[in-house]
This record gives sequence, C-alpha cells and structure tokens, in this order.
Amino acid sequence: MRIFITGGTGLIGRALCRALRAEGHALTVLSRHPETVAAKCGAGVEAMCVLAEWTPQRAFDAVINLAGEPIVDARWSVRRKQVLWDSRVTLTGELVRRINLAEHKPAVLLSGSAVGYYGDRGETVLDENAGAGSGFSAELCQSWEVAAREAEKQGVRVCLLRTAPVLSNDGGLLDKMLLPFKLGLGARLGDGRQWMSWIHIDDYVALVLRLLQDAQAHGPFNMAAPQPVTNAEFTRTLAHVLHRPTFFVAPSLVLKAVMGERSALLLESQRVLPLRLEAAGARFSFANLESALRALLP
Ligand SMILES: NC(=O)c1ccc[n+]([C@@H]2O[C@H](COP(=O)([O-])OP(=O)(O)OC[C@H]3O[C@@H](n4cnc5c(N)ncnc54)[C@H](OP(=O)(O)O)[C@@H]3O)[C@@H](O)[C@H]2O)c1
Repeated sequence: MRIFITGGTGLIGRALCRALRAEGHALTVLSRHPETVAAKCGAGVEAMCVLAEWTPQRAFDAVINLAGEPIVDARWSVRRKQVLWDSRVTLTGELVRRINLAEHKPAVLLSGSAVGYYGDRGETVLDENAGAGSGFSAELCQSWEVAAREAEKQGVRVCLLRTAPVLSNDGGLLDKMLLPFKLGLGARLGDGRQWMSWIHIDDYVALVLRLLQDAQAHGPFNMAAPQPVTNAEFTRTLAHVLHRPTFFVAPSLVLKAVMGERSALLLESQRVLPLRLEAAGARFSFANLESALRALLP
C-alpha cells in the first residue's frame, strides 16, 4: 500500500514505520524537519514538509494521522493549548480537506486520539461506549475525533486510536520515569488510587497493522492493554522490576502547584478496557504490566 503518515517521526511513528517498511509498504511522512525523515523512519521513506504538497493527483491507499505537539512537556498556558489544538485538530481538518480533494481517495484513515477522551472517571470501567469526559484533554480528543470522522462523508473507513500511555524503551513515559526510579526516588502520585491504562509499543504497532487491513474495523478503539493498574501498583511494579525501593509520595497539591492544569495527565483516573479490539479477535502479547516492563527493561 501507499501510506501517508503524519507524526511518523515520533515515538510511535518510528516503530510503526519500521513495521510497515518490513511489510513492503511505500511510506510518505509529513514532518517539519524533512531532512530527518530518512534517519528516523528509514531509508526510502519519502518526506513531505507541508500538507499542501499533497496534490489532488497524488494517490495514497491509507492515511495514519499521529501528529501532535507533546502534551506533557510544557505548562498549558493559553498559547500552549492553542499549539496543542492546532497540531491535532486543525491539522486533522486540513488532512481531511486533502483527502476530499484527492482524485483517488484512501480506503482508510487511522487517526490519533487518547484515553484522555474519557476525562477523570475514578473506578468506572471504560469501554468504547463510555461517554466523553470533561477538561482540556477530553475536549481536545473529542474535537480531534470529530475532525477525523469528517472523512467518513467521503466513504473513507475511519478508525480512532484512543491511545493509552505507550511503554517503549525509545522515549515517552518510561524514559521520563526511569531516572528517578533508578535513583530510588520513584514516587507514587497523589493517593495512587487513580487508574493508569498503558500499552506496550509492540502491541500498539501490531494493532495498527491489524486495523489497517481489517475492512470491517471502524470507529473508536481503546488502544490499551486489557489489565490497567492503579498508579500505586504501577509505581510498585516499576520499582520491583528495577530492584529499587519506593518510599516517596508526590502529593497532588504539589503536582498541581508545579505542573498546573497539566497535572491532570498524572492524577486523573482512566480504567480503560480494549473491548472492541478483543471482540474483533485481537490478542495482546503484553497484557500484564510486569511482563511488559521486563521485556523493555531487561
Ligand atoms: N506516546 C504516548 O504515550 C501517547 C499516548 C496517548 C496519545 N498519544 C498521541 O499519539 C500521537 C503520537 O504520539 P508520539 O508519542 O509518537 O508523539 P511524539 O513522539 O511526541 O511525536 C510527535 C509527532 O508529531 C509531529 N508533529 C508535532 N507537531 C506537529 C505539527 N505542528 N505539524 C506536523 N507534525 C507535527 C512530529 O513531527 P515533526 O517533529 O517531524 O514535524 C512528531 O512526528 C500524538 O498525537 C500523541 O498525542 C501518544
């Protein structure tokens, strides 16, 4: 297939490009730094630096939309929120306009979203039928999904990837947690009772490949391992795998003071289950957190 990818240079995108290239697909990656695409995504991957380069005559069979400015890296000022919004919602709108203009429409659009869609839901078990939550990240995800679904009007099959924090040894959440945990400074966040969904990068990539090929798949999919854990359990398990103690607690008041509104990413509870993926027959290589961490941190 000829596949167009936004966010192909990111943590998920790089792993995905490796797998797609191994399957023999021809890839074009949108990047603001086109000179880095070959190194990050593989030799032979074409770079596009602005969406306007996708002319109506240009044919793609599938589109994977993962672009988005990192959400946790900076305080959510009004300006930063706009950047987060533009790099997801506005960019997705522009992408769908390119699809509308294309003479040969892609059969499928797999478009990013996050488990943040559900907001802060305590102990509630969340499958894809659960309603959207409130707060900035929930609103961002809802609008991101609405923008992607516009492509359905053109007969494009749209899958929405409600992604849990991705565990990888190439950056992301684990990378941020490793140093304090290795120093024995790993801390439970707040009361530690908030549920943390997660997914191993290999499972994520395998599920994307599956959704790409499965002509029946459409709508939202919780991209999360079937065994979410509380933050307290995540903290204990990571410390155990690293053979380090965990004595500390980062109180929620301190996290809120230091991180502002963005502390929601650490303190809100999302107990997400991948109901629709499992109903479609998907199996996870890493269903259990300890096995996922041991595979990534040998
Ligand atoms: N990783 C996770 O744990 C996780 C969890 C939930 C949801 N997600 C979502 O999944 C997507 C991919 O995550 P990731 O961790 O792979 O992201 P990442 O490593 O932070 O990479 C972000 C990607 O988005 C692209 N990008 C950022 N701003 C852009 C803009 N204004 N225009 C065009 N491209 C832009 C970057 O491309 P260039 O810099 O090359 O232009 C890069 O490829 C993101 O949208 C993220 O919100 C990720």
